[in-house]
Amino acid sequence: MLRGKKVSIIGTGNVGATVCYWLSMRKKCREIVMIDRHGVVAHGKALDILQATSPEGSHTQIYNSTDYAMIEDSDVVVVTAGATRKPGMSRDDLLLLNATITQQVIHEVRKYAPNAIVIMVSNPLDAMTYVAIKAGCYPKNQVIGMAGILDSSRMETFISQKLGFGYGQVTASVIGGHGDDMVPLPRYSSVNGVALTDLLSDEEIKEIIELTRQGGAEIVGYMGTSAYYAPANSIVKMIEAVLNDSRAIFPCAVLLEGKYGYNNTVNGVPVVLGANGVEKVLELPLNLEEQQQFAKSVNSVENLLDTLRKNNFFAS
Ligand code: 2OP
Repeated sequence: MLRGKKVSIIGTGNVGATVCYWLSMRKKCREIVMIDRHGVVAHGKALDILQATSPEGSHTQIYNSTDYAMIEDSDVVVVTAGATRKPGMSRDDLLLLNATITQQVIHEVRKYAPNAIVIMVSNPLDAMTYVAIKAGCYPKNQVIGMAGILDSSRMETFISQKLGFGYGQVTASVIGGHGDDMVPLPRYSSVNGVALTDLLSDEEIKEIIELTRQGGAEIVGYMGTSAYYAPANSIVKMIEAVLNDSRAIFPCAVLLEGKYGYNNTVNGVPVVLGANGVEKVLELPLNLEEQQQFAKSVNSVENLLDTLRKNNFFAS
């Protein structure tokens, strides 16, 4: 039977609900299922979003449930379930709680939608992506963490604010983990082809790097909770690349098996996204300083994974 595309979203907090809203407005799939243990609130959100689609002429149908059986036959499953940061918390403070939630969620996802491409969003992102891969015994192409697009879009925003021109023409690249040690790459950033390093001084670029690293915390500080518009947009870009098999390049958190000299760990690098999830991992030629920064970021994620290992998260 020929089917339309189906996307399921686990967790209907701010990020999950905004993904549902934005995806339904873009008319890219036939069906969106939102799974949440808070059934009544999720039902209200599903209904509200569905009613928003009508004036847009969107055919997308939106359902909500507490029952994972509803996700059957999903092409993509987005996992946003878990606690979010409060002011003063780092993403890493969520580690043990969200690892437990991720394991439970992934067992259900693997059971009911075994072939779906899984997009991980819960924090700390790189560690949760690793937990999902291990908990679901997934092949490495099937689970992708969302962070690099978000961090790059923050860097792009700070660059255009600093320049005062080139709005919408900035392309920035951020690799590394989605944490304080992320690796913004000015050498791989440009404004309509003009190298960033030719437009801004070293001092200005340093300032942008710091703003980018603190971009998520800045918003938590203002709102008392994590960002959701920019994260949701980044997730929708990934979903569309998979549904359309577009083979677009995006920085994403993926399992490294030999690339960049690292094994059995998750970190953010540019990948080609398509119908099979990660179609290809691209290896950027990094200079010494960039390699050192990337090593620091890998090390931070490894510290989190070590804590999980000590807490028997990966015991068979
Ligand atoms: C952020 O950086 C939610 O971690 C996410 O805003």
